[in-house]
Amino acid sequence: MRILVTCHAGFIGFHVAKVLLREGHAVHGLDFLNDYYDVNLKHRRLAQLQDQHGFCKTHAYLEDHEGLLALFERFRPEKVPPSMRWKRQSASQRSAS
Ligand SMILES: NC(=O)c1ccc[n+]([C@@H]2O[C@H](COP(=O)([O-])OP(=O)(O)OC[C@H]3O[C@@H](n4cnc5c(N)ncnc54)[C@H](O)[C@@H]3O)[C@@H](O)[C@H]2O)c1
Repeated sequence: MRILVTCHAGFIGFHVAKVLLREGHAVHGLDFLNDYYDVNLKHRRLAQLQDQHGFCKTHAYLEDHEGLLALFERFRPEKVPPSMRWKRQSASQRSAS
């Protein structure tokens, strides 16, 4: 399954992405790597995900609506976090028109 994981460089998102990849899913991560705490820690997490088959990522803000719609059209996630569902719906409405 193609799954969008928001905030994949953070503590929770990283572990979620790791488990999903281990289970054989394709994961697209979305994070802008804020500096709320040491960014090197996030880079180390990313290094662990980067080489895994099925992982790709976008360095972007959740608030970047146009970028997100493009991501939805390109990656076509089958699972998204509940808070992102309206964005996926707008992407499919846009492709239908
Ligand atoms: N870690 C915990 O034990 C815990 C427990 C309960 C609730 N939470 C909540 O879960 C959420 C995630 O927790 P965490 O520990 O993984 O946090 P984290 O700070 O480790 O990770 C959050 C990630 O989100 C990214 N991010 C933040 N705003 C973004 C935006 N607008 N666009 C793109 N990326 C953005 C950051 O760059 C960061 O990598 C938080 O809201 C936290 O309050 C965490």
